[in-house]
Amino acid sequence: MRIVLTGAAGFIGSHTLVVLQELGHEVIAIDDFSNSEPHIPGRIFQITGKEAEWMELDIAQPGLLKNALRNRLPIDGIIHFAAFKAVEESVHNPLKYYRNNLYGLVEVLDCMRELNIPKLVFSSSCTVYGNPDELPVTEQAPFRPAVSPYGETKQMGERILMDTLKAHPELQACILRYFNPIGAHPSGLIGELCRGVPSNLIPYLTQTAIGKRERLRIFGNDYSTPDGTCIRDFIHVCDLADAHVRALNYLDSPKENPGIFNVGTGKGVSVQEAVDTFNSIWGKSLPVEYVSRRAGDVEQIWSDTQKIERDLGWSAKRSLADALADAWRWEQTLAGH
Ligand code: UD1
Repeated sequence: MRIVLTGAAGFIGSHTLVVLQELGHEVIAIDDFSNSEPHIPGRIFQITGKEAEWMELDIAQPGLLKNALRNRLPIDGIIHFAAFKAVEESVHNPLKYYRNNLYGLVEVLDCMRELNIPKLVFSSSCTVYGNPDELPVTEQAPFRPAVSPYGETKQMGERILMDTLKAHPELQACILRYFNPIGAHPSGLIGELCRGVPSNLIPYLTQTAIGKRERLRIFGNDYSTPDGTCIRDFIHVCDLADAHVRALNYLDSPKENPGIFNVGTGKGVSVQEAVDTFNSIWGKSLPVEYVSRRAGDVEQIWSDTQKIERDLGWSAKRSLADALADAWRWEQTLAGH
């Protein structure tokens, strides 16, 4: 297949690019490098030994993507990763999020329609479920009011996509609702890049272990969970990358359009368990402080995986310990160790 990746230099995009190249697909990799680094394409080449065609482009700018792809047809599909994802930043700078995340999607859809690019895989999030009534959460669970502009952009993105598919049934799409992506490529060459202080748990944890942060603050140990800390479904980014390829294949003969899939391990892990697992890999004890709950946090969520197993033939292969070991290796790469 000839596939376009938007946000190809990002955390999930870069790992998916590796998988696509390893499977022999041809990739047009697009990124504006606003939240990435120019050395990422070289790192990916080091892993796969294959060149992608890279384009530096802000896809949210009207018409740019279409112009760039027009003379590169035929294209089988687009995996659209390019979006911002920092929840707190989105509260302070909502227009940055609405512009990038929504204009970007509209441009992608418009381009597919006009250039006859049939397949789309769209990055959504389990954030659309809010605090679900039933666990594990299935794809049928209702949307809950978003707690941030970031969350709004994922709900609105899904709606924009649905409306577009209704009007243009020749387009086929999968919506992947990611749970908590963590880890890094086992080579230590690519992983999550954090500018400033990380807001996500695992980057903060590994930065604490390397000595960049004094201690990890655990937000709340008074939740109604076995150890009082929140529960999440942590998924290795390489497993998540594999799911995108399965989604593209599914779109050859989709059972539903869009195909909506949770992408998680199906296993709930508490924040405390994640820290304990990391400690056992590291061989030391991370300095931890228990502080009050973080506004907007969901108490517990993990994925029902039956649908993705049945329809995409995908399930997570890597363990939490694998993911944490890989995240730690990546943190050491960043520190130049
Ligand atoms: C968050 C977003 C989610 C988004 C995802 C993107 C919210 C409510 N959700 O997921 O919409 O798709 O990031 O990456 O913000 N924790 C600590 N200490 C820390 C950091 C986190 O205890 O320093 C805890 C949090 O309270 C939470 C868990 O670790 O219980 C996971 O947090 P995080 O990694 O930020 O992910 P989510 O909040 O689940």
